[in-house]
Amino acid sequence: MEPIVVTRGLTKRYGRSTALAGVDLQLERGITALLGPNGAGKTTFLRILATALAPTTGSLRVFGSDPADPGGRLTIRRQLGYVPQELGLFDNFTAFDFVDYVAILKEHVDRRARHDEVRRVLDEVDLSDVRSKKIRKLSGGMRRRVGLAQALLGDPALVVLDEPTVGLDPEQRLRFRQVISRQADQRCVVLSTHMTEDVEAMCDRVVVLDHGAVAFDGTPATLAGLAHDRVWVADRPEPSALVSWRTGEGRHRMVGEPPSDAELLAPTVQDGYLLLNGGVPEGASA
Ligand SMILES: Nc1ncnc2c1ncn2[C@@H]1O[C@H](COP(=O)(O)OP(=O)(O)OP(=O)(O)O)[C@@H](O)[C@H]1O
Ligand SMILES: [Mg+2]
Repeated sequence: MEPIVVTRGLTKRYGRSTALAGVDLQLERGITALLGPNGAGKTTFLRILATALAPTTGSLRVFGSDPADPGGRLTIRRQLGYVPQELGLFDNFTAFDFVDYVAILKEHVDRRARHDEVRRVLDEVDLSDVRSKKIRKLSGGMRRRVGLAQALLGDPALVVLDEPTVGLDPEQRLRFRQVISRQADQRCVVLSTHMTEDVEAMCDRVVVLDHGAVAFDGTPATLAGLAHDRVWVADRPEPSALVSWRTGEGRHRMVGEPPSDAELLAPTVQDGYLLLNGGVPEGASA
């Protein structure tokens, strides 16, 4: 089967700074997470996928179409749902009117069918009760969900989500996982996040970007596996550990080189991510 997204040698420069340094990726159906430190290029990559930004060099095909070509761009946008990192929501619109406005832009012409669809997506994100409230009166998490609702209009084949779970309460985060995973086997969902638990819980694949380049591409289990035999718990902290913290039970969980008799723990995606760059914090000199 044709991949939904194919990028080759994708670069993006802003003046002298390089945000993407040559990204080659193929994305298929399922949920792919983008992880990476602040400034790694995640938003830049997602904006290019969403045809909101043109790359400096390299090629991109989405559904086989080239976004540099006006006809291709239209084909892509018709099958795209996008939640940007910063939502420029229209504060004086009600949640319903804003999603309806996006639905009109997305060429949902029949009024009755469109309103049904707007109600459906607001219900998906659990906002039916507040659909008549002005967006400026909604909480931060509710605004995020209004953003997500508009991205689900018309069941797009490619869904691009930039940090979709920021600010959601625990119940809504779980609901988000349910909404997104429901049709993941029929669509391609690409999301950026700093929340490794979300990656572990719902993603088929994780791509780590670092300084605009792919530093890891594989399953969450493989990323976690990088920290196999490197995570342990003890009664006292070990000064040589890369990170160590006191757990709620008063013990110390550590990542690094454990002593031979250590009580090993199963590693998480976060542990593997930490070990990807040798556990050296950003900016620390060797
Ligand atoms: N419009 C812009 N003009 C100039 N530089 C930019 C612009 N947008 C992003 N950058 C730079 O490009 C690099 C990548 O930024 P980007 O927003 O893609 O990172 P990110 O991985 O999404 O980070 P975060 O986790 O903080 O959201 C950064 O160095 C950033 O300063
Ligand atoms: Mg970003």
